[in-house]
Parts: sequence; structure tokens; C-alpha cells
Amino acid sequence: MSSARRGAAGAAPSDADHAFMARALALAGRGLYSTSPNPMVGAVVVREGRIVAEGWHRHAGGAHAEASALARWRPRRGPATLYVTLEPCVHQGRTPPCVDAILAAPVARVVVAAQDPDPRVNGRGIAALKKAGIAVEVGVRGPEAAFLNRSFFHARTTGLPYVILKSAMTLDGRIADRRGGSFWITSEAARREGKRLREEVDAIVAGSRTVRVDDPFLARLREHPPRPPLLKVILDPEAAVPAGARVFGDGRVVWVVGRSARVRRLPATASLLRLSAPGGRFPVETLLRNLAALGVQSVLVEGGGETVGGFLRAGLAQEAALFYGMKVMGEGVNAVTGFSNSVAGAIGFRPFAVRRPGGDLYLRGSLCSPA
Ligand SMILES: NC(=O)c1ccc[n+]([C@@H]2O[C@H](COP(=O)([O-])OP(=O)(O)OC[C@H]3O[C@@H](n4cnc5c(N)ncnc54)[C@H](OP(=O)(O)O)[C@@H]3O)[C@@H](O)[C@H]2O)c1
Repeated sequence: MSSARRGAAGAAPSDADHAFMARALALAGRGLYSTSPNPMVGAVVVREGRIVAEGWHRHAGGAHAEASALARWRPRRGPATLYVTLEPCVHQGRTPPCVDAILAAPVARVVVAAQDPDPRVNGRGIAALKKAGIAVEVGVRGPEAAFLNRSFFHARTTGLPYVILKSAMTLDGRIADRRGGSFWITSEAARREGKRLREEVDAIVAGSRTVRVDDPFLARLREHPPRPPLLKVILDPEAAVPAGARVFGDGRVVWVVGRSARVRRLPATASLLRLSAPGGRFPVETLLRNLAALGVQSVLVEGGGETVGGFLRAGLAQEAALFYGMKVMGEGVNAVTGFSNSVAGAIGFRPFAVRRPGGDLYLRGSLCSPA
């Protein structure tokens, strides 16, 4: 096996490497709704220019992508190249180290898209493979791999959850009319798309006024059972949301209230998180640190405007999902309040998806520094 490994050493990435990694990334993406808190990972085994086995990580606790691909590779005739979208792990978790599975197979070359930022891995997997004489190439389609797992990368490197802001608004930026009505701003297709975003994240956040005015359920049952249920987080410094509100009807709710707020009855679905609220507002970073401690790696902020404004003010939102109904309302509730900037200092938005669900406009993109 070692001579086969030496035979393939030193090969530079080729067009074929990019194409096989594209396939591994497509497999990884299948885990979008199910792998958190683990990253999405895909792997393919290639021999003599043909894919002979594939695998992807389905859910935390399940087989890792490379172990799954290698287990399906029969008969194992080498030398082969393994393409994997994230650096193989070297530590024993709920499953054995992937590096061991690779070393036990006639794999001569490993092509990795991105290094794993998890401190238990972070270059150690790559070093272990190289030490065993395997040719290792790192960075093929690396930016795509990092983008796919942006919430995982963000959480591992900052210790805070990745934050996506979501709003459905009129073309003039109103999320509700003056009486608080917001239901008909966008089409049913756009609302469905908005709800699907909840499947991507670990928690959703809503402001007290939205919960009181709309009385939303704020959840769908998870369609991917191995994943923990969606956490519903209500920002309610005065504990003004009634215990009978629909949001408490199912799932798991974190009811965030002020230190001295009076809570008359705690619904069975809710756990209380008491935070200081200087000036009536919880510092967003403190809130996010508390959610991270609960295992939350990604958050969807569902509004309203004041809640969204708080995240923008704190500079702690990374992405936005903006739905525009094809109408102009005039006065109403703003998509963002309590936040202002000069034109030159305005937060930038770099769209990576533009769609027209039900004739509405849907922009999803990254928030960035002023241009
Ligand atoms: N179209 C859409 O996408 C959409 C989505 C959501 C909501 N809406 C509409 O938006 C309207 C409500 O929006 P809104 O801007 O008036 O209010 P909101 O953001 O829903 O709620 C604001 C309240 O939430 C609490 N809050 C928010 N951030 C906080 C923080 N960092 N710390 C402590 N408390 C925090 C505060 O409660 P206290 O008041 O107790 O201080 C604050 O006054 C409703 O009419 C709803 O229908 C539309």
C-alpha cells in the first residue's frame, strides 16, 4: 500500500480534481437540514478516473462522509484518490477518527476542500495523512466549501451563532401596516420559502411586539428527526407576552426576560433566561453567548423591525433573507428601526441568491462593511 501511496504523491490539482470536488460538495449539501451542529460533508472515492464510491454525513452521531464512502467501496482495489469537502477528523467522537479509516484503505491521495476550524482537528488530520505518506492537496474549491458551512465556520471561529435576518416587506420597506397587519405583504410561495429557512437554523428569534401582535406559532415540526427541535427565542424584557400565546403551544421556547420581570406562569414548553437589560435592551452579544451555551450555532431573526435593528446596531448579523412584495404601502412599521447610518456608512449587502417566489422578489445575501 505504501508504494501505491508514493506513486500518486506530488500530483497538482487538475480540472478533474475540481469536477470530483464539485460532486463531493453536492453530496455535502444534502445535509443542509440535518447535520447541525456538525458540518455538512461529502466525499467521493475515485479510481482510474471514475467514481467508485460516494458518501455524505447525514446527521450528528451518524457516519462521517469519508468513512461512509470508504465503507461502500467494494472491492477495494487501489490506488485511489479520496475527495472530501472538509479535513478528515483525527479524534474519537461519537464515531471513530476518519483518518484511521483512510489509512486502512488503499488510498494514495486525499484532496481536501477546506481545513476544519474545529480546534480538535484544525490541520491535525492533514498532518496525520501526510505523515503516513499520503499525498494531500488542500484548498480545491475551498471557498465553496467554507461558504456551504458558513454557520459552522463562524460558530467555531467566533464562539457566537451565525445570524440571518429575515424580513418580508413592501417595496418601500414596510413590514406591517399602521395597525400591525402584515399577513398579505408577500405571496404564499414566498412565505413557504421563508418558513423553509427555519429548517436551516438551530433557533429563531422574535421580538415581544411581534409575538403579542401576530400571536404566531413560530415553528414547524422538524422534518429531520435526528436533529434537535428548533429553539424559539422570545425577547421580552417585561415578560409581557401572555403565557397562553401560541408560541408556547409546542416545541422548545427560550423566554428571555429582564432580571426583575414578573413571570406569573411559566408554560411547560418554556425555559426562562433572565438577562440584564440596560436601557430596556438585552446586549445582543450577551444574548448570543447564552444561545451558544445552549448549543445554538445558527439563528434566524424573524423580526420585527426593532429586533432586526438591534442586531444591525450590534454588528452581529452576517446574512439577510429579504422578501419584497410587489407593492408600496406608505406609512407603516419599518423593516429596520432604532438604527441609522449615513449613506457612506450604510451596511453593504452582497446577494448570493435572487429568486421570484410567487412573483415576489427574494434576495438572500451576506451583510458586509460599507463599500
Ligand atoms: N413582515 C415581516 O416579515 C414581519 C416579521 C415580524 C414582524 N412583523 C410585524 O412587525 C411588527 C412588530 O415590529 P416592531 O419593530 O414594532 O417590534 P418587534 O421587533 O417585534 O418587538 C420589539 C420589542 O421586542 C423586544 N426586543 C427586541 N429586541 C430586544 C433586545 N435586544 N433586548 C430586549 N428586548 C428586545 C422589546 O420589547 P419591549 O417592548 O418589552 O421593550 C421591543 O420593544 C408587528 O406588526 C408584526 O406584525 C412583520
